[in-house]
Amino acid sequence: MKKIIVIGSASIDLVVKSKILPEAGETVMGDSFFTTPGGKGANQAVAAARLSDQVYMIGAVGNDSYGKQILENLKQNHVDISYMDIIDNEKSGTAHITLFEDDNRIIVVPAANNYVTPEKVLPKLEHFSEGDIILLQHEIPEDTIRSVVTYAQKQGMKIILNPAPYRKLDIDVIEKVTWLTPNESESELLFEHQVEEALKTYPRKLIITQGAKGALFYSDSQQLIEGYKKEVVDTTGAGDTFNGALAVALIENKSLEEAVNFANLAGSFSVTGLGAQGAMPHRKDLEEV
Ligand code: RIB
Repeated sequence: MKKIIVIGSASIDLVVKSKILPEAGETVMGDSFFTTPGGKGANQAVAAARLSDQVYMIGAVGNDSYGKQILENLKQNHVDISYMDIIDNEKSGTAHITLFEDDNRIIVVPAANNYVTPEKVLPKLEHFSEGDIILLQHEIPEDTIRSVVTYAQKQGMKIILNPAPYRKLDIDVIEKVTWLTPNESESELLFEHQVEEALKTYPRKLIITQGAKGALFYSDSQQLIEGYKKEVVDTTGAGDTFNGALAVALIENKSLEEAVNFANLAGSFSVTGLGAQGAMPHRKDLEEV
């Protein structure tokens, strides 16, 4: 059976809900606070593991209580954590999130996630093989993305790169990945506002997520696979749910059209509850639709 290997960040989210956003130098009163597992890598691993078996995570946590919480949560969600590292004398990654109106603002402190280096990751990839899907995001060092993409392509593995948060991406990396899944603002930055052209240059590879509207790619003409509208409680992790579910559908050999539809549906569930992983669906939720 083919495997999904998520290589990325694992963090704890510290979330404040507030009706007011403070200006510089201002203090305001928030409504509530909670901590919950997050990190784009771990979120995508959990999203995939709720929909499929054989999901592995390669990443790192600090030797602290957050690290224990992150690993325990991955285990409880049936993500294989045998390739997770615990870094001595380093803190686990944290994301500092403000929920304001229907959106979030996030500051990430990577900490242990900076230790997800090529030296640590590449030897672990020897345990995987042709046809497995690697799922990557941008909360780990840039070197690691480049080395993994080069190695995985040579081994005949398939690669989904979710380039979030935005950072500059070299063309040769884009060419080596199998699928690239930016959201609208990331795609504007990545392709310097030439998004229509980029869609045509990378048919069936560049998939631009558009929130509740759905996701767009090019195949003879532009294809918008429409999204599913649900009442929004918290959009944090919706993109991660899309990517985890996309990996599951693609490993099951669904067509790109079917896979994007499946990922849209999974993403729509995730906005209905609080926290990045709070409302990520299980297989039976999607089958009941
Ligand atoms: O994509 C959502 C995630 O981004 C949050 O869980 C937070 O950890 C940030 O990394």
